[in-house]
Amino acid sequence: MNLRDSTVLVTGGGGLIGSHLAGHLQESYDADVRVADDFSKGDPGRIPEGVEIIEADLTDAGDTSEAVTADLDVVFHLAAYTDTNYDDDRTLFEENTEMTYNVLEAMEDAGVSNLAFTSSSTVYGEAPRPTPEDYAPLEPISIYGSSKLADEALISTYAKSYGFTAWVYRFANIVGPYQRGNVIPDFIQKLQANNEELEILGDGRQEKSYLHVTDCVDAMCYIVDNAERDLNTYNLGSRTTTSVNRIADIVSEEMDLSPEYAYTGGDRGWTGDVPKMRLSVEKLSALGWEPPTSSDDAVRAATRDLLDELS
Ligand SMILES: NC(=O)c1ccc[n+]([C@@H]2O[C@H](COP(=O)([O-])OP(=O)(O)OC[C@H]3O[C@@H](n4cnc5c(N)ncnc54)[C@H](O)[C@@H]3O)[C@@H](O)[C@H]2O)c1
Repeated sequence: MNLRDSTVLVTGGGGLIGSHLAGHLQESYDADVRVADDFSKGDPGRIPEGVEIIEADLTDAGDTSEAVTADLDVVFHLAAYTDTNYDDDRTLFEENTEMTYNVLEAMEDAGVSNLAFTSSSTVYGEAPRPTPEDYAPLEPISIYGSSKLADEALISTYAKSYGFTAWVYRFANIVGPYQRGNVIPDFIQKLQANNEELEILGDGRQEKSYLHVTDCVDAMCYIVDNAERDLNTYNLGSRTTTSVNRIADIVSEEMDLSPEYAYTGGDRGWTGDVPKMRLSVEKLSALGWEPPTSSDDAVRAATRDLLDELS
């Protein structure tokens, strides 16, 4: 579909990716943008001027149908519990899938049939790398990954049996300003509290791919504009990876510190953490979008964003 001059709803638009997406849709596509968020984690102050803001809890079907109106051309559904090691598994699973079901049902009732959805590399579990979109079997190892796979299954049903067009993004780690609950802000906070020693979860050898949020929202819109099947699933990440040790080095360099590293041990940060992740981006590249930076550069840019925010 063509996003230019479209009317768009971004759920979770107060968050890291949603607030950038809202701005990008306005600036690059002249879109009319509405955000629905309960601001449990997001912040209305981050949403660009001119965007309509609806405070809505999308686990509530009534709130969801008020946000999803017939004038919309497309819904970008981002609202979710996003802490991959959230300690209340039942709430995470039930509420993430409930929000997606509510959004799909409200869209069908309103006659809106274009949906873009933010899934995750975690649906692949510990798959061989680089992992392509058609890798099987999908065996997630966290409740967060399980909830994303359940969401994808619901969306597939609406695309295959209810006339929807859907774009599903399987993201690597997306990083940028105002982020919380990720390794970069975690290291910054720890070093601000104690600049001589940095606690690193696991053995520091975890290797994952990172993409900056500005590149992420550019690719999200590009995929909606260019992929034309009923169900379009795309990996989104950089071509390279960065180790947790390397992130510690980058954050320390940017803060002008030389801390000792203290490891909690084991090959992963927590139960359900996938220690090594790199997504194949060949499908996206064939569509015409190439990740512009390395994973290391994305981590450094996000570190600078976060340090600027604090200065
Ligand atoms: N950042 C990443 O690395 C990454 C990786 C893979 C997938 N994703 C997915 O991308 C999407 C956006 O991620 P993000 O990093 O911007 O996260 P975020 O936590 O910054 O944003 C999520 C937003 O959803 C809102 N929200 C939560 N529960 C809600 C509810 N019941 N009703 C309404 N709003 C609610 C929060 O207030 C927040 O503003 C999420 O679906 C996430 O799972 C992110």
